Amino acid sequence: MCGIVGAVAQRNVVPVLLQGLLRLEYRGYDSAGLVVVNHNQLERVVSTGRVAELSEKTIHTSGHLGIAHTRWATHGVPSERNAHPHISSGQIAVAHNGIIENYEELRTRLSAQGYTFASDTDTEVIAHLIHSHYARGISLLGATQAALAELVGAYAIGVVAADNPQQLIGARKGSPLLLGVGEIEHFIASDASALLQVTKNMVYLEEGDVVEVGLHGYRIFNAQGEAAQRPVHVSELTNESVELGEYRHYMQKEIHEQPQALANTLESVCNSQSLIPGIFGAEAAATFADIDSILILACGTSNHAGQVARYWLEEIAGIPCNVEIASEYRYRVSVVNPKTLVVTISQSGETADTMAALNHAKSIGHLHTLSICNVPESALVRASKLRMLTRAGPEIGVASTKAFTTQLAALFLLTLILAKQRGRLSQEAEQKHLHDLRHLPAAAQAVLNLEPQIAELAKHFADKHHALFLGRGLHYPIALEGALKLKEISYIHAEAYPAGELKHGPLALVDQDMPVIAVAPNDALLEKLKSNLQEVRARGGELYVFADADTRIHSSDGVHRMQMPEHAGYLSPILHTIPLQLLAYYVALQKGTDVDKPRNLAKSVTVE
Ligand code: G6P
Repeated sequence: MCGIVGAVAQRNVVPVLLQGLLRLEYRGYDSAGLVVVNHNQLERVVSTGRVAELSEKTIHTSGHLGIAHTRWATHGVPSERNAHPHISSGQIAVAHNGIIENYEELRTRLSAQGYTFASDTDTEVIAHLIHSHYARGISLLGATQAALAELVGAYAIGVVAADNPQQLIGARKGSPLLLGVGEIEHFIASDASALLQVTKNMVYLEEGDVVEVGLHGYRIFNAQGEAAQRPVHVSELTNESVELGEYRHYMQKEIHEQPQALANTLESVCNSQSLIPGIFGAEAAATFADIDSILILACGTSNHAGQVARYWLEEIAGIPCNVEIASEYRYRVSVVNPKTLVVTISQSGETADTMAALNHAKSIGHLHTLSICNVPESALVRASKLRMLTRAGPEIGVASTKAFTTQLAALFLLTLILAKQRGRLSQEAEQKHLHDLRHLPAAAQAVLNLEPQIAELAKHFADKHHALFLGRGLHYPIALEGALKLKEISYIHAEAYPAGELKHGPLALVDQDMPVIAVAPNDALLEKLKSNLQEVRARGGELYVFADADTRIHSSDGVHRMQMPEHAGYLSPILHTIPLQLLAYYVALQKGTDVDKPRNLAKSVTVE
């Protein structure tokens, strides 16, 4: 996590750094800070508040070269002394994203050499290490390369030196960093959104790259220290896509963007008459023909998408499927079937555990890899043989919404294509699914119209401390996702259970203070679910039921029914997610929490 921006220009770079940090706050917001180089001095300004507070503190700060950072704390509490950038000997400043695993050993060594540490961070060792080389007369590039050679762990860094007013060094390994190319000005940042304000021309650095950035140009060196060429991409992101517009929060905006995000993700398929494996990459047809099972690896919301897909893949495509939490899989001894397709799902494409799980899978002999991701140039996409990009656009709210529903759309396409290749999809069924997919954005729009009613319903939760979510089958993972959304942004303790499991424990929790939210589509398990809901009512539990129109579930004493506009069959999990997102959003508003930046969390978790 953490976000980095750096700039070298002929103008004052402080506004550029601050604007960039604002865009990167989703990566962490425990503190923010910047360093500018002026008259052979480093000026450091930090704040434990948000970037807005840093802006106020930097009204009188200016410079043509600087680096800035927004932090998600790993080593050392959020405080001004632990805020980045960190400075060594008044000479070298470093902003860092990632974790240095051998920092204790380096800290001991550097302390013995006479360096004093002003923070509890792992990052400070990088500053002192670079300084220890720079002080011997080596160039800033050479000193940084020498220091990096001693680091174990993950990093993206920005480095400046007090006596080098036109040079910025960037480097990455395990954490993302890109270069923004302007006219007689250059930038580095953790992602493209931070630089859209100044340029659309981006160079994505590769693993192990170090870049020396000046006013007039830049030089990239690969992990072996050899000069390297990397293509310049023109970013397709627009400033609007990362601005709030008419909405109160990014989460609300992103919930409302779902019809368009789904339409964009499904575009290539919906415009064609049949489903082809090529949408997952040129080698997809051959790979799909060679597999007999699927293993899905992901974290958080992305893992919930995987759990829905398991129901689809086994039922529609007839392929055995396992779904694992990436952080568990990476350390588990597992049995390798080389005919398994390993599917990683990630909004960011840089989640450390998911990335490590993919690398682990490859290292133990898995050959077939596919990633479903929202960020085209991400590490995960590059490390996978096949890929499907969701086209949700940038997601800024920490609680994932449109990334999730578009992941589901992509996974449904995967299911259909595998089913077709295995002769399990008649032409008629294929056309019916394509028809339903084309209709999906409109169906999602219709669900969004429930917003005013859900805002009202949310008032019932303002004084609650716990909530129970129930679902069955395909919609059990949707209950999990609803509970996750509620706990993430409203801090209400929420749990989800498959409704049939209620009687084996959670029923003991049910009383009038424990609202029970049920996901109730009209599917084969509806009558079973209704019986489970009776069990709740019989114990005085208050029910909030999101029911399809034809379920014959009605509002009554202790039962609050929210009517879904239509029943969407296999695609129902996508539609049933939306009211739960809205519920979490409006409950958070009731609670007055920071919706887009919930405490202790970050959007991109690039550490273990
Ligand atoms: C963090 C985010 C979640 C996200 C999870 C996995 O915890 O706050 O919203 O679901 O990481 O992220 P990924 O980018 O891999 O989907």
